[in-house]
Amino acid sequence: MRLGVFGTGYAGLVTSVGLAELGHAVTAIDKDPDIVARLADGRPTFHEPGLQELLTSNLQAGRLRFTTRAEEATAAADIIFLCVGTPPRADGRADLYQVEEVARTIAPLLDGYKLVVEKSTVPARTAYWIDWTIRRLAGREREFDVASNPEFLREGSAVRDFLAPARIVIGADTGRARSLLLDLYQRSFDCPIVVTSVTTAELIKQTANAFLATKISFINLVADLCEELGVDVTTVARGVGLDPRVGSDFLRAGLGFGGSCLPKDLSALIRVAEDKGVDIGMLRAVEHINSARVDRLLAKVERALWVVRHKVVAVLGVAFKPDTDDIRGAPSLGVIPRLHEAGAILRVYDPAAMPRLKTLHPPDDRLTYVESAIEAVRGAHALVVLTDWEEFRSLDLGRVRSLMRTPIIVDGRNLFEPAQMQVAGFEYYSLGRGEVAPRAEPQRERV
Ligand code: UDX
Repeated sequence: MRLGVFGTGYAGLVTSVGLAELGHAVTAIDKDPDIVARLADGRPTFHEPGLQELLTSNLQAGRLRFTTRAEEATAAADIIFLCVGTPPRADGRADLYQVEEVARTIAPLLDGYKLVVEKSTVPARTAYWIDWTIRRLAGREREFDVASNPEFLREGSAVRDFLAPARIVIGADTGRARSLLLDLYQRSFDCPIVVTSVTTAELIKQTANAFLATKISFINLVADLCEELGVDVTTVARGVGLDPRVGSDFLRAGLGFGGSCLPKDLSALIRVAEDKGVDIGMLRAVEHINSARVDRLLAKVERALWVVRHKVVAVLGVAFKPDTDDIRGAPSLGVIPRLHEAGAILRVYDPAAMPRLKTLHPPDDRLTYVESAIEAVRGAHALVVLTDWEEFRSLDLGRVRSLMRTPIIVDGRNLFEPAQMQVAGFEYYSLGRGEVAPRAEPQRERV
């Protein structure tokens, strides 16, 4: 099929290379000529495992091209996917400006039947407004449908998720739209396909992310209780999650959820419900629990160090989760400025996301970006873990301890085992598992 994709952000670029990989002819559009030039040259704009390979091979195969010209993509496509950003507004609602802009752009360009498909996460009823906008500008005689086909891609495994989805949701209110999308997906995937109305599909996407957020906040609430009762939340989560009705995914307690989707979709769903007069107190609690995680971690840093001012703190992890360079909504954006304000001397390392943080917080005399975890811990009074990158899990703890001024670890992702940390001689703080003092007296502070 001939497909157009508006927007080359996470969802747009992965969708474009994924659809091209399935054998379709894909034209991806972005307003920014620099981004288009870069992508056309085979250089991805963000870090995502598998993306580089698929971008290169599909460009070479001639199945994928990038342009700034909306008319080229519209003319050359049977289906037009909307993958533009829907960032949160100050009031928590999704900002649909870019969605409206694409609708306004394509309206006069429609020639013959086109299927316009929302892929960006949007509040329920957005398709109605896209339809209304196009109809108002293009006139009644234009033939088109608006459908919803939400993406459920996780950053860090987005390419894999695209090529092996757990399910596909098709929201279409006409037979023609339904069969075009079924045709697109049925020949490539044998996963369950949920075919439903457009508004239902929109709500499925927001509900899915709000539910995942709820699971995480729930286990974080239990984590706080575990600390009071002196039990380990990871064991509680395992014991609970093995019940297939609960499921063990998304029960990792820690610093809470970040990223570009969970926080945004949760707050957008809250606003939709409020607008409709539905009591959404439960989801507000989910938000509240999540935003309090950073305070909880910082309280532990203070308990460990007493006075933070002039203490050297190694920060491992900046990305909102491993295997991505994305820092949107990341807990690090709360932790790092607050430690800095408190007067700490910060040595920060992340395998992928440092350039992004650097542009927000340029280095200064108390904020240094270093090239390895080992470099970060050199001379540190405490080590704070903010992202569960695999390379941190396999750190040589003996070496880490020997390089630190005081062997203190505050682990925001419960990366290490408390017993292992005790044996390794660390004073160890994590979230939901009690505190650990080293078996022997801690070494005297090295000067
Ligand atoms: C999410 C959804 O999973 C995906 O289906 C949707 O399309 C986009 O939003 P993503 O934002 O890539 O994907 O991240 P995800 O893997 O869901 O993790 C979100 C956040 O929750 C991360 O900050 C992660 O560290 C945190 N998390 C996840 C936990 O704190 N505990 C867990 O058990 C799982």
